[in-house]
Amino acid sequence: MSVNASYPSAQPNDGFTLWLTGLSGAGKTTIALALEAELRGRGVRVERLDGDVVREGLTRDLGFSKEDRDKNIERVTFVAKLLSRNGVGVIASFISPYRDARDKARRETTNFIEVFVNASLDTCIKRDVKGMYAKAIAGEIKQFTGISDPYEAPEAAELTLVTDNESVEQSVARILEYLESRGLIAPVAVSAGAEVI
Ligand code: ADX
Repeated sequence: MSVNASYPSAQPNDGFTLWLTGLSGAGKTTIALALEAELRGRGVRVERLDGDVVREGLTRDLGFSKEDRDKNIERVTFVAKLLSRNGVGVIASFISPYRDARDKARRETTNFIEVFVNASLDTCIKRDVKGMYAKAIAGEIKQFTGISDPYEAPEAAELTLVTDNESVEQSVARILEYLESRGLIAPVAVSAGAEVI
């Protein structure tokens, strides 16, 4: 399969770093949660690292300047590196707006997979789950990604999920299919009447 061509063959117990990047409200956390549940159900050892959670602990001291966002992603990359090289499947969900920081994560972690969770800014503003876009547009939150701060879209993501019109189930199914195609998780045995030997 072409998708496997440029990667060394992986074993189902190899770790990986599945990196979800995209605007606030694009659906990163929702997809990460559903994916985590599905992978745990399949017996895969996973750890989820999420922007809102990590920023309450490990990176509590950081704000949203470029320097601080880079530090945020740098620390997360370090944790993902330790986990993924020890057989854990890391699901990281961070806006991670800067290409360089994501590329560094790619270089430093095991089996890095960049997933662009791509909802249009219009969609994110309409959803405004946390009410932050309204505040950012009103100027009450500074340096808000997509409004008053940049987002550098991936140029060569392994997967792009267009969540304006793709359901969470569809997005998760596409990620699972991709992980299976790379040999990073075992395919689910389909036994519709077939004898399992
Ligand atoms: S990142 O840019 O450093 O990768 P991260 O994913 O950890 O960001 O955190 C983003 C979350 O912080 C958003 O989902 C939102 O809840 C909150 N947030 C608060 N201020 C901002 C801001 N100025 N820009 C983006 N997100 C913000």
